[in-house]
Amino acid sequence: DAQHIFDDIHRQFQLSPETLVELTGAFLNEFQVGLKEYNHPMAMIPTFVTGVPDGTETGTFLALDLGGTNLRVCEVVLKGDTTFTIRQQKYKVSDALKTGEASVLFDYLADSVDAFLTSNPLSDDLEANPFSAPISDVVQLGLTWSFPVEQTAIAQGKILTWTKGFSAKHAIGNDVVKLLQDAFDRKHMHVKCVALVNDTVGALLSRSYTAGGCVLGAIFGTGTNGAYVEEVANITKLGNDPAAARGGLMVVNTEWGAFNNTRSHLPSTSFDNALDRLSINPRFQAFEKMISGMYLGEITRNILLSLVDAAPQSLLFGGKTTTALNAQWGFDTSVMSGVEEAWDGADGVVPGEVPAPRLSEFENLDALDPAVKVRLERIRAVLVKELGYKAEDVSLRDAATVRWACSMVARRAAHLSGVAVATVLIQTGRAVFPGKSGEPSKNEPKIGVGVDGSLIQFYPNFEGTLRESLRYVVGAEVEKRVDIGMAKDGSGVGAALCALQAVKDL
Ligand code: BG6
Ligand code: GLC
Repeated sequence: DAQHIFDDIHRQFQLSPETLVELTGAFLNEFQVGLKEYNHPMAMIPTFVTGVPDGTETGTFLALDLGGTNLRVCEVVLKGDTTFTIRQQKYKVSDALKTGEASVLFDYLADSVDAFLTSNPLSDDLEANPFSAPISDVVQLGLTWSFPVEQTAIAQGKILTWTKGFSAKHAIGNDVVKLLQDAFDRKHMHVKCVALVNDTVGALLSRSYTAGGCVLGAIFGTGTNGAYVEEVANITKLGNDPAAARGGLMVVNTEWGAFNNTRSHLPSTSFDNALDRLSINPRFQAFEKMISGMYLGEITRNILLSLVDAAPQSLLFGGKTTTALNAQWGFDTSVMSGVEEAWDGADGVVPGEVPAPRLSEFENLDALDPAVKVRLERIRAVLVKELGYKAEDVSLRDAATVRWACSMVARRAAHLSGVAVATVLIQTGRAVFPGKSGEPSKNEPKIGVGVDGSLIQFYPNFEGTLRESLRYVVGAEVEKRVDIGMAKDGSGVGAALCALQAVKDL
């Protein structure tokens, strides 16, 4: 019956504590394989960044940041007292640029830097600082490149694949720094790219700069990924690389979005499969496709459409769709936030699981709690505005159904995100795998985690829900010490810190 359809979908999206632990085990396994071997889907990329900053660093740098919602060009001044100033300009990257010729994309990147430099002459500090003083009038730039790159040095790395809807041609296999530098040189610009970082590495470095230490930088935005500080001795695939002989620590960019691409452990549903099949990279980024902002709206849209189409009787919107709901990517993750905020209202977040709608509850609307009605009416207004429905096409039950679907998809995402964080804590000796004997080897009072991305920044209670699953896996005592903080402007600051390290090493 109809109730059964709701309950069945609900069940598919729940992750039991046992499943979370099992996923963590599989995650740890992939960490280990990736540290041993190149060409593993979860790439575990050595970044050649060998330490984290402590806040005393100084310098002025330009940073270029591609891969999140916006392309940004920034000028960052590190003050050396854990603070910095930043001036930045955002630029749009059209779908045509994302999927066209790589040279055209890189020309656009160079043009954006040029436009920034024209409208924002660099600060005087640039000349005053010994490290960033222009060498023969060349401005030094750190590139934040938020896609998988097999890095071979701080300013060198081959593009491995595209993610997040990019597919520009003739990029894969090429050195990303060279592609950018060639574009600068074609335009006779006096800019030199001296460092290459992933956005997660940027988040790690910048959080470390402002908070004095950090073990994990994680992005929960358009995509998801994490970078953490690993012992070089564990990165056995470095082989004879001089970095291996030096030992010590190195930041590893996990590219955890590719966890379990075979989906042997991930709780795939038919809604996930439909998304994957129609994506431009089917069978890649399996974990990311259940977690990040680019995809959550689409999973939810698939659920909503299945309810609209339910037989013998539609269970949503009286069987009607709109242009937005019919279009692939037509239901943005920000609409999900809007729906959840509309429910929460000004009183703040209502945490916890939203049960599947009970159809009997909506049989007599007069019996509905008036406070619930007000909340549902607010959701109706969001759906009218964002999906193009007429108010009379959205019943209060429809509003409740959409809220349930949004919350369920987002909760699963946040729970899975907690698994990734737990894995890093176990891998680095800050927690012990459930059921294993022994004590953690590290016991800091605060375990620093720097985060960035639209999902963790804007989605109601994403962090709170992430922490629920973290608690299941590593226990409440460790979870309490995890200090999650926004790595504000992380990519710009991280790229600047990396550029600083590169210039010092020159
Ligand atoms: C931005 C960073 O703040 O966050 C980017 O500058 C990063 O480097 C991005 O990729 C991630 O969030 P989103 O939501 O824009 O993908
Ligand atoms: C994708 C990219 C990764 C990036 C993440 C967050 O997963 O492959 O490099 O860090 O998105 O932006």
